[in-house]
Amino acid sequence: MKISIIGHGYVGLVSAAVFADLGNTVWCIGRTAEKIANLKKGIMPFYEPGLEEMVNRNFTAGKLNFTLDYQEAISSSELIFICVGTPPQKNGEADLSQVETAAKNIASCLPKYSVVVTKSTVPIGTNKLVQEIINRHKNDNVRFDIASCPEFLREGSALKDTLNPDRIVIGASAPQAVKLLLELHRPINSKTIITSIETAEMIKYAANSLLSVKISFANAISFLCEKTGADVEEVMEGIGSDKRIGRRFLYPGVGYGGSCFPKDVKALISISDKLGYDFQLLKSTEDINQEAVNRFVQKALKLLDNKVEGKKVGVLGLAFKPNTDDMREAPSIKIIKILQELGAEIKAYDPVSMDNATKLMPDIKYASDAYGVAREADILLIITEWNEFKELDLPKIKKLMKKPIILDGRNIYNPVETKKLGFIYQGIGR
Ligand code: UGA
Repeated sequence: MKISIIGHGYVGLVSAAVFADLGNTVWCIGRTAEKIANLKKGIMPFYEPGLEEMVNRNFTAGKLNFTLDYQEAISSSELIFICVGTPPQKNGEADLSQVETAAKNIASCLPKYSVVVTKSTVPIGTNKLVQEIINRHKNDNVRFDIASCPEFLREGSALKDTLNPDRIVIGASAPQAVKLLLELHRPINSKTIITSIETAEMIKYAANSLLSVKISFANAISFLCEKTGADVEEVMEGIGSDKRIGRRFLYPGVGYGGSCFPKDVKALISISDKLGYDFQLLKSTEDINQEAVNRFVQKALKLLDNKVEGKKVGVLGLAFKPNTDDMREAPSIKIIKILQELGAEIKAYDPVSMDNATKLMPDIKYASDAYGVAREADILLIITEWNEFKELDLPKIKKLMKKPIILDGRNIYNPVETKKLGFIYQGIGR
C-alpha cells in the first residue's frame, strides 16, 4: 500500500519504519529541513532500540522516504496518518495546533480518495474536527474518509510493541476506511477492535489513564507498607497474581513520567471537567504521583541527617524510563532540582540520555559511568532502572563512596543482601 505519515516523533517514525518493513511504500513528512536531512543521512532524532537499523534498511531499499513536501507524498497515498505532537497547554488541554495544520496541508493536496487516519493522542471529537477542516480546504470533487487508529507503543520497546500489539483499534464508520486499515494491519495478526471514532479516541485516553492509576495505586500502597512493615513488592506479587488485576504496571517508584501519562491524565481531567464530571480518581492519581517524588526527596534528606548543603549526591539514571534517551517529564529533573536548591552537589550518569540531560541541566556534574558517580558520594540515588545498574559491582561502589548509602527509587536491589554488604539501604515500600 502507499502511505503518508505526518510527523517523525516516536509514533510517526516507528509506524513509518514498521509499515515500510511490512512491504508498503511509505512517505514520512516532516516540517524541519535539518531533521529530514538527518533522517536521509541515517541520523535518528531520538534513541530507540532497533529503530535506526530498520529505518536505514528500508530507506536504502526505497520503501521509506523522507520529505518536507506534502504534495509529493500525499498525491500517491491511499492512507494518510497524522502522527504529530499534541502537547499539553497550561490549562491541561491538549494543544491541537499541529493536528489542525496537518489537516489543512492534507486538504490542499488531496488528489483522489484517501483515508485520513489520526494516530496522535487527541481529545474525543478531534477526528470530526479534522474532517471539518479537510472539507473546508479540499478540492470539491475529492472524496475522503477519516479514521482513528490510536497507538499503544511504549518507548524503549516501540518496535516490539508495534509488531506484536495486544490489540489494534480501528475507529471508523466508512466501510472503505475499515477495509484499507484491516488490509494494512493484516500481517501484524493481532486482535482487532473495530469501533466508532469517538470510542477509539476514548480507548486511548482510558488506557493511559488506567495505567497511571495502577502506578499511583502501587505508590500509595508503598506509602502504607512503609508504615506497617509490609513489603510492597510482595504485596504487588500477591495481588498481581490475581488474573483480574495482573502484575504489570504495579511497580512503585519515583512516579510516572514521559511525554504520555502526565499529559494524557491532565487532558482527560480537562475533558471531563468540560463535560461536567469531576474526575477525582485521576486528580488523586496526579497528586500521588507528585507525592512519590516528594517522599523520595524526604527520604534522601533524612538519610543525609537533613544536612544537604555541600553533600555529594550521586544520581544513577536520568531518562524517564530505561531504554530511551527521553527526558520529558522525567522524575529525575524534579528530584535533582529540589536537592540542588537545598545546596547538594549533584553528579549523574545515564547510559543514553546524557546529551539530552546536559541541555536541560547544564549546571550539574556528569560522570562517564556508575562508578564515577559513586566516587566520593555521600549518597547514591537510583532513579531509572537500567539493566546495567542491576549488575553493578556493589563492593566496589561501597569502597568508592564517602558514605555507603543507597536510596533505591526503583527497588532494583535486594534490601537484605545490600545491607549485608554494609550499605545503609532504603527502597520504596519495603
Ligand atoms: C505509555 C504507554 O504505556 C503506551 O501504551 C502508550 O502508547 C504511550 O504511553 C503513549 O501514549 O504514547 P511510555 O510513556 O513510553 O508508554 O512508557 P511506559 O512504559 O508506559 O512508562 C511510563 C512511566 O511510568 C515511566 O516513567 C515508568 O517508569 C513509569 N512506570 C511504569 C512506573 O513507575 N511503574 C510501572 O509499573 C510502570
